[in-house]
Amino acid sequence: MPLPELFLQELKLRNDLAEIASSYVHLKRSGKNLVGLCPFHNEKSPSFHIYTENNTFYCFGCGAGGDVITFVRRIENLDYWEAVRFLADHAGLTMPENTMDDGMAKLKARVLEINREAARFFHAQLWTPEGKPALDYLLGRGLTVKTVRHFGLGYSQDSRFALVNHLQKKGYTSYEMIQSNVAVESRSGKAVDRFFSRVMFPIIDLRGNVVGFGGRTLTDSKPKYLNTSDTLAFKKSNGLFALNFAKNNHQEPLILVEGYMDVIALHQAGFSSAIATLGTALTSEQARLIARYAKEVVISYDSDEAGQKAANRAIPLLRDAGLQVKVLAIEGGKDPDEFIRSFGEQGATRFKQLIEASGNDMEYRLNQLKKTCAMDTPEGKVAYLNGAAELLAALDNRMEQEIYAGRLAEEVGIERAAILQQVNKNQKKFTASRQKREFREMQQQISGMKDRVNPEKQKYLRAANAEEGLLACLFRLQDQKLAQQIYQELPPEKFCTVFNRRVYETIMGRMMSGGGCELADISGDFSVEEISAISRILAKFDMLALSIQDAQEYRDLILQEFQKLRAEQLETVQPELQQYLQKLREQKK
Ligand code: CTP
Ligand code: MN
Repeated sequence: MPLPELFLQELKLRNDLAEIASSYVHLKRSGKNLVGLCPFHNEKSPSFHIYTENNTFYCFGCGAGGDVITFVRRIENLDYWEAVRFLADHAGLTMPENTMDDGMAKLKARVLEINREAARFFHAQLWTPEGKPALDYLLGRGLTVKTVRHFGLGYSQDSRFALVNHLQKKGYTSYEMIQSNVAVESRSGKAVDRFFSRVMFPIIDLRGNVVGFGGRTLTDSKPKYLNTSDTLAFKKSNGLFALNFAKNNHQEPLILVEGYMDVIALHQAGFSSAIATLGTALTSEQARLIARYAKEVVISYDSDEAGQKAANRAIPLLRDAGLQVKVLAIEGGKDPDEFIRSFGEQGATRFKQLIEASGNDMEYRLNQLKKTCAMDTPEGKVAYLNGAAELLAALDNRMEQEIYAGRLAEEVGIERAAILQQVNKNQKKFTASRQKREFREMQQQISGMKDRVNPEKQKYLRAANAEEGLLACLFRLQDQKLAQQIYQELPPEKFCTVFNRRVYETIMGRMMSGGGCELADISGDFSVEEISAISRILAKFDMLALSIQDAQEYRDLILQEFQKLRAEQLETVQPELQQYLQKLREQKK
Protein backbone atom coordinates (compact mmCIF):
# COMPACT_ATOMS: atom_id res chain seq x y z
CA MET A 1 0.00 0.00 0.00
CA PRO A 2 1.42 3.39 -0.90
CA LEU A 3 1.79 6.09 1.70
CA PRO A 4 -1.32 8.21 2.28
CA GLU A 5 -1.04 11.42 0.28
CA LEU A 6 -1.50 13.72 3.25
CA PHE A 7 1.18 11.99 5.25
CA LEU A 8 3.63 12.16 2.36
CA GLN A 9 3.01 15.88 1.87
CA GLU A 10 3.52 16.50 5.59
CA LEU A 11 6.68 14.41 5.61
CA LYS A 12 8.14 16.43 2.73
CA LEU A 13 7.16 19.71 4.28
CA ARG A 14 8.75 18.96 7.61
CA ASN A 15 11.98 17.48 6.31
CA ASP A 16 14.14 19.99 4.58
CA LEU A 17 16.84 18.21 2.59
CA ALA A 18 19.41 20.95 3.20
CA GLU A 19 18.89 20.68 6.94
CA ILE A 20 19.03 16.88 7.00
CA ALA A 21 22.05 16.76 4.70
CA SER A 22 23.97 19.38 6.63
CA SER A 23 24.48 17.02 9.51
CA TYR A 24 26.46 14.77 7.15
CA VAL A 25 28.00 17.24 4.71
CA HIS A 26 29.53 20.65 5.11
CA LEU A 27 27.46 22.78 2.72
CA LYS A 28 28.24 26.13 1.18
CA ARG A 29 25.85 28.40 -0.65
CA SER A 30 26.37 28.77 -4.37
CA GLY A 31 23.77 30.97 -6.02
CA LYS A 32 20.37 29.58 -5.19
CA ASN A 33 21.81 26.14 -4.43
CA LEU A 34 24.16 24.54 -1.91
CA VAL A 35 27.31 22.60 -2.66
CA GLY A 36 29.67 20.41 -0.69
CA LEU A 37 31.97 17.41 -0.79
CA CYS A 38 29.90 14.39 -1.75
CA PRO A 39 29.21 12.02 1.15
CA PHE A 40 28.76 9.12 -1.27
CA HIS A 41 32.18 9.07 -2.86
CA ASN A 42 35.66 10.44 -2.18
CA GLU A 43 36.53 13.73 -3.81
CA LYS A 44 38.54 16.85 -3.18
CA SER A 45 36.56 19.36 -5.19
CA PRO A 46 32.89 19.68 -4.29
CA SER A 47 30.42 18.32 -6.84
CA PHE A 48 27.54 17.48 -4.52
CA HIS A 49 24.65 19.92 -5.15
CA ILE A 50 21.48 20.54 -3.26
CA TYR A 51 18.72 22.20 -5.25
CA THR A 52 16.76 24.09 -2.66
CA GLU A 53 13.89 24.89 -5.01
CA ASN A 54 12.75 21.32 -5.34
CA ASN A 55 14.50 19.74 -2.37
CA THR A 56 16.64 17.39 -4.43
CA PHE A 57 20.34 16.60 -4.63
CA TYR A 58 22.70 15.48 -7.32
CA CYS A 59 26.41 14.70 -7.33
CA PHE A 60 28.13 15.43 -10.63
CA GLY A 61 31.04 13.27 -9.55
CA CYS A 62 29.37 9.96 -8.82
CA GLY A 63 25.84 10.49 -10.10
CA ALA A 64 24.11 9.90 -6.77
CA GLY A 65 20.94 11.92 -6.55
CA GLY A 66 17.38 12.10 -5.33
CA ASP A 67 14.94 13.57 -2.87
CA VAL A 68 15.19 13.70 0.91
CA ILE A 69 13.93 10.12 1.35
CA THR A 70 16.50 8.81 -1.10
CA PHE A 71 19.23 10.77 0.67
CA VAL A 72 18.40 9.02 3.93
CA ARG A 73 18.14 5.66 2.17
CA ARG A 74 21.64 6.08 0.85
CA ILE A 75 23.40 7.65 3.78
CA GLU A 76 21.84 5.55 6.52
CA ASN A 77 21.76 2.45 4.38
CA LEU A 78 18.03 1.96 4.80
CA ASP A 79 15.30 0.72 2.55
CA TYR A 80 12.46 2.98 1.51
CA TRP A 81 10.15 2.27 4.42
CA GLU A 82 12.87 2.52 7.00
CA ALA A 83 13.92 5.85 5.56
CA VAL A 84 10.35 7.13 5.72
CA ARG A 85 10.15 6.01 9.34
CA PHE A 86 13.49 7.71 10.06
CA LEU A 87 12.21 11.01 8.66
CA ALA A 88 8.86 10.66 10.38
CA ASP A 89 10.68 10.25 13.69
CA HIS A 90 12.89 13.20 12.87
CA ALA A 91 9.87 15.41 12.24
CA GLY A 92 7.78 14.03 15.09
CA LEU A 93 5.18 12.46 12.79
CA THR A 94 3.44 9.19 13.54
CA MET A 95 3.73 6.56 10.85
CA PRO A 96 0.36 5.73 9.30
CA GLU A 97 -0.96 2.24 10.04
CA ASN A 98 -0.67 -0.64 7.62
CA THR A 99 1.90 0.88 5.39
CA MET A 100 4.25 -2.08 5.66
CA ASP A 101 2.35 -3.97 2.98
CA ASP A 102 5.12 -3.48 0.52
CA GLY A 103 6.30 -6.98 -0.48
CA MET A 104 10.03 -6.43 -0.19
CA ALA A 105 9.76 -4.63 3.14
CA LYS A 106 7.65 -7.46 4.48
CA LEU A 107 10.12 -10.09 3.37
CA LYS A 108 12.98 -8.11 4.86
CA ALA A 109 11.15 -7.90 8.17
CA ARG A 110 10.71 -11.69 8.06
CA VAL A 111 14.39 -12.15 7.27
CA LEU A 112 15.26 -10.09 10.33
CA GLU A 113 12.89 -12.07 12.53
CA ILE A 114 14.39 -15.32 11.30
CA ASN A 115 17.89 -14.07 12.06
CA ARG A 116 16.90 -13.13 15.58
CA GLU A 117 15.16 -16.44 16.13
CA ALA A 118 18.17 -18.31 14.75
CA ALA A 119 20.56 -16.37 17.01
CA ARG A 120 18.44 -17.31 20.02
CA PHE A 121 18.35 -20.92 18.91
CA PHE A 122 22.12 -21.11 18.39
CA HIS A 123 22.79 -19.42 21.69
CA ALA A 124 20.52 -21.80 23.60
CA GLN A 125 22.39 -24.78 22.08
CA LEU A 126 25.54 -23.78 23.95
CA TRP A 127 23.96 -24.72 27.25
CA THR A 128 22.82 -28.19 26.13
CA PRO A 129 24.90 -31.39 26.31
CA GLU A 130 25.15 -31.34 22.50
CA GLY A 131 26.59 -27.87 22.56
CA LYS A 132 29.05 -28.49 25.35
CA PRO A 133 32.06 -29.01 23.05
CA ALA A 134 31.39 -25.60 21.54
CA LEU A 135 31.09 -23.89 24.90
CA ASP A 136 34.26 -25.64 26.02
CA TYR A 137 35.96 -24.47 22.86
CA LEU A 138 35.05 -20.84 23.55
CA LEU A 139 36.00 -21.01 27.20
CA GLY A 140 39.18 -22.81 26.19
CA ARG A 141 40.02 -19.81 24.05
CA GLY A 142 39.88 -17.64 27.11
CA LEU A 143 36.40 -16.18 26.81
CA THR A 144 34.28 -15.81 29.92
CA VAL A 145 30.62 -16.83 30.09
CA LYS A 146 29.81 -13.16 30.41
CA THR A 147 31.55 -12.39 27.12
CA VAL A 148 29.83 -15.33 25.42
CA ARG A 149 26.48 -13.90 26.53
CA HIS A 150 27.40 -10.30 25.68
CA PHE A 151 28.15 -11.23 22.07
CA GLY A 152 25.32 -13.76 21.91
CA LEU A 153 27.66 -16.47 20.65
CA GLY A 154 26.14 -19.83 19.84
CA TYR A 155 26.46 -23.25 18.31
CA SER A 156 24.89 -24.87 15.28
CA GLN A 157 24.49 -28.60 15.90
CA ASP A 158 25.75 -31.36 13.69
CA SER A 159 22.40 -31.76 11.92
CA ARG A 160 21.01 -30.58 8.60
CA PHE A 161 17.55 -29.82 9.90
CA ALA A 162 17.86 -28.61 13.49
CA LEU A 163 17.32 -24.93 12.73
CA VAL A 164 15.03 -25.50 9.75
CA ASN A 165 12.69 -27.65 11.85
CA HIS A 166 12.75 -25.14 14.66
CA LEU A 167 11.91 -22.26 12.33
CA GLN A 168 9.20 -24.26 10.63
CA LYS A 169 7.50 -24.81 13.97
CA LYS A 170 7.61 -21.06 14.49
CA GLY A 171 5.75 -20.56 11.22
CA TYR A 172 8.50 -19.54 8.81
CA THR A 173 8.46 -20.90 5.27
CA SER A 174 11.35 -22.60 3.49
CA TYR A 175 11.43 -19.71 1.06
CA GLU A 176 11.89 -17.20 3.88
CA MET A 177 14.62 -19.32 5.47
CA ILE A 178 16.49 -19.55 2.18
CA GLN A 179 16.08 -15.81 1.64
CA SER A 180 17.63 -15.30 5.08
CA ASN A 181 20.53 -17.55 4.06
CA VAL A 182 20.30 -19.55 7.30
CA ALA A 183 19.17 -22.38 5.03
CA VAL A 184 20.02 -23.41 1.49
CA GLU A 185 17.92 -25.24 -1.05
CA SER A 186 18.79 -28.91 -1.47
CA ARG A 187 18.66 -30.63 -4.85
CA SER A 188 15.23 -31.95 -4.02
CA GLY A 189 14.07 -28.41 -3.34
CA LYS A 190 13.98 -28.70 0.45
CA ALA A 191 15.48 -26.18 2.86
CA VAL A 192 18.49 -27.50 4.77
CA ASP A 193 20.56 -25.80 7.44
CA ARG A 194 23.44 -23.78 6.06
CA PHE A 195 25.40 -23.81 9.31
CA PHE A 196 26.20 -26.99 11.23
CA SER A 197 28.89 -27.97 13.71
CA ARG A 198 30.07 -24.39 13.96
CA VAL A 199 30.53 -21.79 16.66
CA MET A 200 28.18 -18.99 15.67
CA PHE A 201 28.98 -15.27 15.81
CA PRO A 202 25.85 -13.17 15.25
CA ILE A 203 26.40 -9.96 13.32
CA ILE A 204 24.34 -7.12 14.71
CA ASP A 205 23.68 -3.86 12.90
CA LEU A 206 23.54 -0.38 14.37
CA ARG A 207 19.88 -0.67 15.19
CA GLY A 208 20.36 -3.89 17.13
CA ASN A 209 19.04 -6.24 14.44
CA VAL A 210 20.74 -9.57 13.92
CA VAL A 211 21.54 -9.34 10.22
CA GLY A 212 23.78 -12.35 9.65
CA PHE A 213 26.29 -14.82 11.05
CA GLY A 214 29.86 -15.90 10.90
CA GLY A 215 30.30 -19.56 11.76
CA ARG A 216 33.67 -21.00 12.77
CA THR A 217 34.53 -24.64 12.53
CA LEU A 218 35.64 -26.33 15.75
CA THR A 219 38.05 -28.50 13.87
CA ASP A 220 40.49 -27.99 11.03
CA SER A 221 37.82 -28.43 8.38
CA LYS A 222 37.47 -25.85 5.63
CA PRO A 223 36.31 -23.21 5.32
CA LYS A 224 37.44 -21.94 8.71
CA TYR A 225 34.68 -19.36 8.66
CA LEU A 226 31.39 -19.57 6.83
CA ASN A 227 29.58 -16.25 6.55
CA THR A 228 26.06 -15.22 5.62
CA SER A 229 25.89 -14.17 1.98
CA ASP A 230 24.27 -10.85 1.15
CA THR A 231 20.52 -10.85 1.78
CA LEU A 232 17.78 -8.24 1.86
CA ALA A 233 18.91 -7.42 5.39
CA PHE A 234 22.65 -7.84 5.05
CA LYS A 235 25.37 -6.36 2.94
CA LYS A 236 28.86 -7.51 3.93
CA SER A 237 30.60 -4.55 2.40
CA ASN A 238 28.60 -2.03 4.44
CA GLY A 239 28.61 -3.32 7.99
CA LEU A 240 31.20 -3.68 10.72
CA PHE A 241 31.31 -6.31 13.44
CA ALA A 242 30.70 -4.92 16.96
CA LEU A 243 30.16 -1.33 15.80
CA ASN A 244 26.84 -1.58 17.63
CA PHE A 245 28.84 -1.76 20.88
CA ALA A 246 31.76 0.41 19.87
CA LYS A 247 29.63 3.38 18.81
CA ASN A 248 28.11 3.70 22.29
CA ASN A 249 31.35 3.65 24.18
CA HIS A 250 32.83 6.78 22.68
CA GLN A 251 36.27 5.33 23.22
CA GLU A 252 38.83 6.80 20.89
CA PRO A 253 40.46 5.61 18.79
CA LEU A 254 38.44 2.89 17.09
CA ILE A 255 40.56 -0.24 16.76
CA LEU A 256 40.16 -1.98 13.42
CA VAL A 257 41.10 -5.66 13.52
CA GLU A 258 40.75 -8.55 11.10
CA GLY A 259 38.85 -11.22 12.96
CA TYR A 260 35.74 -11.74 15.05
CA MET A 261 37.81 -13.43 17.75
CA ASP A 262 40.16 -10.45 17.88
CA VAL A 263 37.24 -8.11 18.43
CA ILE A 264 35.79 -10.26 21.16
CA ALA A 265 39.10 -10.75 22.97
CA LEU A 266 39.72 -7.00 22.87
CA HIS A 267 36.28 -6.12 24.20
CA GLN A 268 36.77 -8.61 27.00
CA ALA A 269 40.08 -6.96 27.83
CA GLY A 270 38.36 -3.58 28.05
CA PHE A 271 38.92 -2.27 24.52
CA SER A 272 35.30 -1.88 23.59
CA SER A 273 36.10 0.22 20.54
CA ALA A 274 37.38 -2.77 18.56
CA ILE A 275 35.59 -3.52 15.29
CA ALA A 276 36.19 -5.75 12.27
CA THR A 277 35.03 -6.11 8.69
CA LEU A 278 32.80 -9.05 7.90
CA GLY A 279 35.21 -11.43 6.25
CA THR A 280 36.16 -9.09 3.38
CA ALA A 281 38.70 -6.35 2.77
CA LEU A 282 37.77 -2.88 4.03
CA THR A 283 35.60 -0.86 1.62
CA SER A 284 35.23 2.90 1.27
CA GLU A 285 31.65 2.63 2.59
CA GLN A 286 32.98 1.07 5.76
CA ALA A 287 35.68 3.73 6.03
CA ARG A 288 33.05 6.45 5.82
CA LEU A 289 30.96 4.63 8.41
CA ILE A 290 33.92 4.56 10.79
CA ALA A 291 34.49 8.27 10.21
CA ARG A 292 30.99 8.95 11.50
CA TYR A 293 31.89 7.56 14.89
CA ALA A 294 35.52 8.49 15.36
CA LYS A 295 38.25 10.87 14.32
CA GLU A 296 41.03 8.40 14.74
CA VAL A 297 41.42 4.72 13.93
CA VAL A 298 44.21 2.28 14.73
CA ILE A 299 44.69 -0.51 12.24
CA SER A 300 45.61 -3.60 14.17
CA TYR A 301 45.80 -6.30 11.57
CA ASP A 302 47.71 -9.57 11.76
CA SER A 303 51.44 -9.08 11.46
CA ASP A 304 51.75 -11.64 8.66
CA GLU A 305 52.22 -10.60 5.05
CA ALA A 306 48.54 -10.81 4.22
CA GLY A 307 47.69 -8.62 7.18
CA GLN A 308 50.24 -6.01 6.21
CA LYS A 309 49.01 -5.94 2.64
CA ALA A 310 45.47 -5.48 3.89
CA ALA A 311 46.66 -2.61 6.09
CA ASN A 312 48.29 -0.92 3.11
CA ARG A 313 45.05 -1.09 1.20
CA ALA A 314 43.01 0.16 4.12
CA ILE A 315 45.15 3.24 4.86
CA PRO A 316 44.17 5.39 1.86
CA LEU A 317 40.50 4.49 2.23
CA LEU A 318 40.48 5.55 5.86
CA ARG A 319 42.45 8.71 5.15
CA ASP A 320 40.14 9.68 2.31
CA ALA A 321 37.24 9.35 4.70
CA GLY A 322 38.92 12.04 6.80
CA LEU A 323 40.26 9.81 9.56
CA GLN A 324 43.59 10.03 11.30
CA VAL A 325 45.18 6.66 10.88
CA LYS A 326 47.65 4.80 13.03
CA VAL A 327 49.10 1.38 12.47
CA LEU A 328 49.89 -0.91 15.32
CA ALA A 329 52.67 -3.44 15.03
CA ILE A 330 52.55 -6.75 16.87
CA GLU A 331 55.82 -8.61 16.79
CA GLY A 332 56.04 -12.32 16.15
CA GLY A 333 53.21 -13.06 13.71
CA LYS A 334 50.44 -12.83 16.27
CA ASP A 335 46.96 -11.41 15.98
CA PRO A 336 45.54 -9.21 18.78
CA ASP A 337 43.69 -12.12 20.35
CA GLU A 338 46.82 -14.24 20.57
CA PHE A 339 48.86 -11.29 21.73
CA ILE A 340 46.57 -10.47 24.63
CA ARG A 341 46.29 -14.07 25.71
CA SER A 342 50.02 -14.66 25.58
CA PHE A 343 50.49 -12.07 28.32
CA GLY A 344 47.80 -13.44 30.61
CA GLU A 345 46.89 -10.92 33.27
CA GLN A 346 49.16 -8.37 31.66
CA GLY A 347 47.46 -8.65 28.26
CA ALA A 348 45.40 -5.48 28.45
CA THR A 349 48.25 -3.36 29.75
CA ARG A 350 50.58 -4.63 27.07
CA PHE A 351 48.07 -3.98 24.33
CA LYS A 352 47.48 -0.48 25.62
CA GLN A 353 51.21 0.14 25.35
CA LEU A 354 51.13 -1.08 21.77
CA ILE A 355 48.37 1.37 20.93
CA GLU A 356 50.28 4.21 22.51
CA ALA A 357 53.43 3.24 20.66
CA SER A 358 51.71 2.85 17.32
CA GLY A 359 53.03 5.14 14.65
CA ASN A 360 50.81 7.06 12.31
CA ASP A 361 50.23 5.73 8.83
CA MET A 362 53.01 7.81 7.25
CA GLU A 363 55.63 6.55 9.65
CA TYR A 364 54.40 3.07 9.02
CA ARG A 365 54.57 3.41 5.28
CA LEU A 366 57.99 5.05 5.33
CA ASN A 367 59.27 2.20 7.47
CA GLN A 368 57.86 -0.35 5.09
CA LEU A 369 59.41 1.44 2.17
CA LYS A 370 62.77 1.58 3.92
CA LYS A 371 62.76 -2.17 4.43
CA THR A 372 62.74 -2.63 0.65
CA CYS A 373 65.68 -0.26 0.03
CA ALA A 374 69.36 -1.09 0.52
CA MET A 375 70.02 1.91 2.73
CA ASP A 376 73.78 1.35 2.86
CA THR A 377 74.14 2.17 -0.84
CA PRO A 378 73.60 5.52 -2.57
CA GLU A 379 71.11 3.88 -4.98
CA GLY A 380 69.14 2.54 -2.06
CA LYS A 381 68.97 5.97 -0.45
CA VAL A 382 67.82 7.56 -3.70
CA ALA A 383 65.12 4.91 -4.09
CA TYR A 384 64.02 5.55 -0.53
CA LEU A 385 63.85 9.33 -1.02
CA ASN A 386 62.01 9.04 -4.31
CA GLY A 387 59.47 6.67 -2.82
CA ALA A 388 59.11 8.88 0.24
CA ALA A 389 58.56 11.99 -1.89
CA GLU A 390 55.71 10.19 -3.62
CA LEU A 391 54.12 9.18 -0.34
CA LEU A 392 54.41 12.72 1.01
CA ALA A 393 52.94 14.21 -2.16
CA ALA A 394 49.74 12.25 -1.57
CA LEU A 395 49.34 13.82 1.87
CA ASP A 396 48.06 17.17 0.75
CA ASN A 397 48.74 18.70 4.10
CA ARG A 398 51.63 21.14 3.94
CA MET A 399 52.50 20.99 7.60
CA GLU A 400 52.78 17.22 7.63
CA GLN A 401 54.87 17.31 4.48
CA GLU A 402 57.32 19.76 6.05
CA ILE A 403 57.68 17.73 9.21
CA TYR A 404 58.41 14.49 7.40
CA ALA A 405 60.72 16.18 4.93
CA GLY A 406 62.68 17.48 7.92
CA ARG A 407 62.93 14.02 9.45
CA LEU A 408 63.95 12.45 6.16
CA ALA A 409 66.58 15.13 5.62
CA GLU A 410 68.16 14.34 8.94
CA GLU A 411 67.91 10.61 8.47
CA VAL A 412 69.53 10.49 5.05
CA GLY A 413 71.72 13.56 5.37
CA ILE A 414 70.40 15.73 2.57
CA GLU A 415 68.83 19.21 2.37
CA ARG A 416 65.23 19.45 3.42
CA ALA A 417 64.55 21.86 0.57
CA ALA A 418 65.63 19.27 -1.98
CA ILE A 419 63.16 16.78 -0.61
CA LEU A 420 60.35 19.31 -0.56
CA GLN A 421 61.09 20.27 -4.13
CA GLN A 422 60.67 16.68 -5.20
CA VAL A 423 57.45 16.45 -3.18
CA ASN A 424 56.10 19.56 -4.90
CA LYS A 425 56.84 18.15 -8.31
CA ASN A 426 55.05 14.92 -7.49
CA GLN A 427 52.18 16.78 -5.98
CA LYS A 428 51.56 18.82 -9.13
CA LYS A 429 51.45 15.65 -11.18
CA PHE A 430 49.25 14.02 -8.62
CA THR A 431 46.78 16.89 -8.40
CA ALA A 432 46.60 17.27 -12.17
CA SER A 433 45.81 13.63 -12.69
CA ARG A 434 43.22 13.64 -9.95
CA GLN A 435 41.53 16.71 -11.36
CA LYS A 436 41.54 15.15 -14.78
CA ARG A 437 39.99 12.00 -13.42
CA GLU A 438 37.32 13.85 -11.46
CA PHE A 439 36.53 15.97 -14.49
CA ARG A 440 36.28 12.94 -16.77
CA GLU A 441 33.97 11.17 -14.34
CA MET A 442 31.82 14.27 -14.17
CA GLN A 443 31.60 14.48 -17.95
CA GLN A 444 30.59 10.85 -18.21
CA GLN A 445 28.00 11.30 -15.53
CA ILE A 446 26.34 14.31 -17.01
CA SER A 447 26.30 12.99 -20.57
CA GLY A 448 24.61 9.87 -19.27
CA MET A 449 26.85 7.82 -21.51
CA LYS A 450 27.42 5.27 -18.81
CA ASP A 451 23.70 5.11 -18.17
CA ARG A 452 22.96 1.69 -16.70
CA VAL A 453 19.44 2.60 -15.70
CA ASN A 454 18.44 3.58 -19.22
CA PRO A 455 20.63 1.44 -21.49
CA GLU A 456 18.55 2.25 -24.57
CA LYS A 457 19.49 5.88 -24.36
CA GLN A 458 22.55 5.49 -26.57
CA LYS A 459 20.57 3.77 -29.28
CA TYR A 460 17.73 6.30 -29.35
CA LEU A 461 19.68 9.38 -28.33
CA ARG A 462 17.43 11.99 -29.92
CA ALA A 463 14.26 10.47 -28.61
CA ALA A 464 15.73 9.87 -25.16
CA ASN A 465 16.88 13.48 -24.91
CA ALA A 466 13.43 14.76 -25.83
CA GLU A 467 11.87 12.37 -23.32
CA GLU A 468 14.16 13.69 -20.63
CA GLY A 469 13.29 17.25 -21.58
CA LEU A 470 9.60 16.53 -21.27
CA LEU A 471 10.04 14.80 -17.93
CA ALA A 472 12.03 17.78 -16.65
CA CYS A 473 9.21 20.10 -17.76
CA LEU A 474 6.59 18.02 -16.00
CA PHE A 475 8.57 17.98 -12.78
CA ARG A 476 9.33 21.68 -12.96
CA LEU A 477 5.96 23.04 -14.03
CA GLN A 478 3.75 20.83 -11.84
CA ASP A 479 0.85 21.85 -14.08
CA GLN A 480 -2.07 19.43 -14.02
CA LYS A 481 -3.91 20.88 -16.97
CA LEU A 482 -0.82 20.74 -19.12
CA ALA A 483 -0.15 17.19 -17.99
CA GLN A 484 -3.63 16.10 -18.98
CA GLN A 485 -3.36 17.69 -22.36
CA ILE A 486 0.02 16.15 -23.05
CA TYR A 487 -1.09 12.74 -21.89
CA GLN A 488 -3.96 12.73 -24.36
CA GLU A 489 -1.70 13.42 -27.27
CA LEU A 490 1.21 11.37 -26.11
CA PRO A 491 0.38 7.94 -24.71
CA PRO A 492 3.28 6.23 -22.88
CA GLU A 493 3.65 3.63 -25.68
CA LYS A 494 5.19 6.32 -27.82
CA PHE A 495 8.20 6.69 -25.56
CA CYS A 496 11.19 4.95 -27.11
CA THR A 497 13.08 4.08 -23.95
CA VAL A 498 11.52 1.79 -21.39
CA PHE A 499 12.89 3.58 -18.36
CA ASN A 500 11.70 7.05 -19.37
CA ARG A 501 8.33 5.54 -20.24
CA ARG A 502 8.05 4.17 -16.74
CA VAL A 503 8.90 7.53 -15.18
CA TYR A 504 6.34 9.19 -17.46
CA GLU A 505 3.65 6.69 -16.52
CA THR A 506 4.39 7.14 -12.83
CA ILE A 507 4.25 10.93 -12.92
CA MET A 508 1.17 10.97 -15.07
CA GLY A 509 -0.54 8.40 -12.89
CA ARG A 510 -0.10 10.66 -9.90
CA MET A 511 -1.03 13.87 -11.68
CA MET A 512 -4.21 12.40 -13.14
CA SER A 513 -5.35 11.34 -9.71
CA GLY A 514 -4.60 14.75 -8.26
CA GLY A 515 -1.43 13.78 -6.41
CA GLY A 516 1.83 15.68 -6.29
CA CYS A 517 4.60 14.69 -8.61
CA GLU A 518 7.72 15.98 -7.04
CA LEU A 519 10.63 13.58 -6.84
CA ALA A 520 9.80 12.71 -3.23
CA ASP A 521 6.29 11.72 -4.30
CA ILE A 522 7.50 9.02 -6.63
CA SER A 523 10.73 7.91 -5.01
CA GLY A 524 9.04 4.92 -3.39
CA ASP A 525 8.38 3.51 -6.86
CA PHE A 526 12.02 3.44 -7.90
CA SER A 527 15.32 2.01 -6.75
CA VAL A 528 18.03 4.29 -5.42
CA GLU A 529 19.89 3.98 -8.75
CA GLU A 530 16.79 4.85 -10.74
CA ILE A 531 16.11 7.88 -8.60
CA SER A 532 19.69 8.99 -9.25
CA ALA A 533 19.05 8.73 -12.97
CA ILE A 534 15.97 10.94 -12.63
CA SER A 535 17.96 13.43 -10.56
CA ARG A 536 20.54 13.57 -13.28
CA ILE A 537 17.80 14.67 -15.68
CA LEU A 538 16.65 17.36 -13.25
CA ALA A 539 20.22 18.53 -12.67
CA LYS A 540 20.87 18.70 -16.40
CA PHE A 541 17.92 21.02 -16.93
CA ASP A 542 18.39 23.00 -13.73
CA MET A 543 19.98 26.00 -15.44
CA LEU A 544 17.33 26.27 -18.14
CA ALA A 545 14.04 28.05 -17.87
CA LEU A 546 11.34 25.60 -18.94
CA SER A 547 7.95 26.72 -20.20
CA ILE A 548 4.71 25.14 -21.37
CA GLN A 549 5.92 25.75 -24.88
CA ASP A 550 9.08 23.73 -24.24
CA ALA A 551 6.96 20.86 -22.97
CA GLN A 552 4.91 20.95 -26.15
CA GLU A 553 7.99 21.05 -28.32
CA TYR A 554 9.45 18.03 -26.56
CA ARG A 555 6.15 16.24 -26.98
CA ASP A 556 6.22 16.88 -30.74
CA LEU A 557 9.81 15.72 -30.96
CA ILE A 558 8.96 12.47 -29.22
CA LEU A 559 6.05 11.90 -31.60
CA GLN A 560 8.26 12.55 -34.60
CA GLU A 561 10.95 10.21 -33.37
CA PHE A 562 8.35 7.56 -32.75
CA GLN A 563 7.02 7.84 -36.31
CA LYS A 564 10.49 7.71 -37.74
CA LEU A 565 11.37 4.66 -35.75
CA ARG A 566 8.21 2.90 -36.80
CA ALA A 567 8.88 3.61 -40.43
CA GLU A 568 12.37 2.18 -40.06
CA GLN A 569 11.05 -0.89 -38.34
CA LEU A 570 8.51 -1.47 -41.10
CA GLU A 571 11.24 -1.29 -43.69
CA THR A 572 13.23 -3.96 -41.97
CA VAL A 573 10.24 -6.09 -41.12
CA GLN A 574 8.70 -6.13 -44.58
CA PRO A 575 11.43 -8.02 -46.41
CA GLU A 576 11.45 -10.57 -43.61
CA LEU A 577 7.70 -10.92 -43.86
CA GLN A 578 7.87 -11.45 -47.58
CA GLN A 579 10.49 -14.10 -47.18
CA TYR A 580 8.30 -15.84 -44.69
CA LEU A 581 5.27 -15.75 -46.97
CA GLN A 582 7.40 -17.05 -49.79
CA LYS A 583 8.46 -19.96 -47.63
CA LEU A 584 4.89 -20.76 -46.75
CA ARG A 585 3.94 -20.81 -50.39
CA GLU A 586 6.80 -23.15 -51.21
CA GLN A 587 5.83 -25.48 -48.43
CA LYS A 588 2.29 -25.70 -49.76
CA LYS A 589 3.43 -26.80 -53.16
N1 CTP B 1 37.46 -15.16 7.39
C1 CTP B 1 36.47 -15.63 6.55
N2 CTP B 1 36.59 -16.84 5.94
C2 CTP B 1 37.68 -17.62 6.15
C3 CTP B 1 38.70 -17.16 6.98
C4 CTP B 1 38.56 -15.92 7.60
O1 CTP B 1 35.49 -14.97 6.36
N3 CTP B 1 37.75 -18.81 5.56
C5 CTP B 1 37.29 -13.86 8.02
C6 CTP B 1 36.57 -13.95 9.36
O2 CTP B 1 35.74 -12.79 9.48
C7 CTP B 1 37.69 -13.93 10.33
C8 CTP B 1 38.65 -12.99 9.66
O3 CTP B 1 38.52 -13.26 8.28
O4 CTP B 1 37.28 -13.47 11.60
C9 CTP B 1 40.09 -13.14 10.06
O5 CTP B 1 40.55 -14.44 9.76
P1 CTP B 1 41.50 -15.17 10.75
O6 CTP B 1 42.62 -14.27 11.16
O7 CTP B 1 41.83 -16.49 10.15
O8 CTP B 1 40.47 -15.42 11.90
P2 CTP B 1 40.48 -15.16 13.46
O9 CTP B 1 39.34 -14.27 13.80
O10 CTP B 1 41.82 -14.84 13.96
O11 CTP B 1 40.00 -16.60 13.90
P3 CTP B 1 40.66 -17.64 14.86
O12 CTP B 1 41.43 -16.88 15.86
O13 CTP B 1 39.45 -18.30 15.41
O14 CTP B 1 41.48 -18.55 14.04
MN1 MN C 1 42.95 -15.48 15.53
